[in-house]
Amino acid sequence: MSDTLRQHAEALYATELEELKKQDSGKRPHNWLMSPQAVVTYLIGGKLKNGFEVSPKYIGSKRLMEIAVATLATDRALLLYGLPGTAKSWVSEHLAAAISGDSTRIVQGTAGTSEESIRYGWNYARLLAEGPSRQALVETPVMRAMQEGKIARIEELTRIGADVQDTLITILSEKTLPIPELNSEVQAAKGFNLIATANNRDKGVNELSSALKRRFNTVILPVPGTMEEEIDIVKRRVESFEKVMELPAEKPALEEIRRIVTIFRELRNGVTEDGKTKIKSPGGTLSTAEAISVVNNGLTLAAYFGDGRLTAADLAAGIIGAVVKDPVQDKLVWQEYLETVVKTRDEWKDVYRACRDLQ
Ligand SMILES: Nc1ncnc2c1ncn2[C@@H]1O[C@H](COP(=O)(O)OP(=O)(O)OP(=O)(O)O)[C@@H](O)[C@H]1O
Ligand SMILES: [Mg+2]
Repeated sequence: MSDTLRQHAEALYATELEELKKQDSGKRPHNWLMSPQAVVTYLIGGKLKNGFEVSPKYIGSKRLMEIAVATLATDRALLLYGLPGTAKSWVSEHLAAAISGDSTRIVQGTAGTSEESIRYGWNYARLLAEGPSRQALVETPVMRAMQEGKIARIEELTRIGADVQDTLITILSEKTLPIPELNSEVQAAKGFNLIATANNRDKGVNELSSALKRRFNTVILPVPGTMEEEIDIVKRRVESFEKVMELPAEKPALEEIRRIVTIFRELRNGVTEDGKTKIKSPGGTLSTAEAISVVNNGLTLAAYFGDGRLTAADLAAGIIGAVVKDPVQDKLVWQEYLETVVKTRDEWKDVYRACRDLQ
């Protein structure tokens, strides 16, 4: 097992990617490592002709993945949009890994992201000593992706200031990055494209400019549609966490995962699963990603401070932490849910007690 805390998708799933490439008979767009069909199989999983099992990475609509992959084979860029924790970054990483074999050409968007981190920067020592030259120029991940005909990724595009976002317009419409200082330019090689992610909860930081919007195809990643889907996602991610962390814990019982997912879904939807009781929703998003970390934290507690078996007491702190983000409003919402829903379920007595103990 590798010493790296978090491996890139292309390393973690190297065997699957290799096998997919071998079995792939579809037509590949220029510079793609595999055909669009193979990329979709990599994303949603499936059985290859020789019986090799490809694990699902994205659990949800296959059609959405087909649209995302097809977009990348056109001259328009791909924007993955949606609520927090809906696997935007995750899908973006796997797309880049499958198409280009490299998911690391990435720019993290923040309020402080400057034009230099999207276009190119300068090594100022060299710039002063030698004047502007190609050697003094510092390439960005986007510039390298253009030169190599690969996929570049921009995370949290709408956190970047609108003026800086607009540097992408020339890159996306002309497929060229001008370098006026050297009187030259970089022309994108075939295969170059861009995947951006943006999250609609943090909206209001910066809107996507309409000029830029026209250059993207937007794919909205939804919150998991059904309880079973969400349980499946949590279960898979927790299993891989256990493996990486080499936790001395038992696999969590499916029942525990079901309870966490139920609590998250009910609070998120504002109504109990049976549709009978209306409840208030807390201010936070209660994403699938948070459900995953509640179970992961619980497992770690169970492994190191319990007997290795996940119990309600191990989960309680995580649940409350995820639900109560605002100490006043959310706390009331949580207490009401605890008393009107959790308490009334006979099989949930342990959850009720564990949560009460923490108040
Ligand atoms: N539909 C899904 N299929 C597979 N995994 C999922 C799905 N939804 C969420 N996940 C898991 O949730 C975790 C968080 O996803 P990710 O970080 O990609 O979210 P995000 O949409 O980028 O959120 P943010 O807006 O906060 O950046 C990942 O580990 C991913 O595996
Ligand atoms: Mg993300």
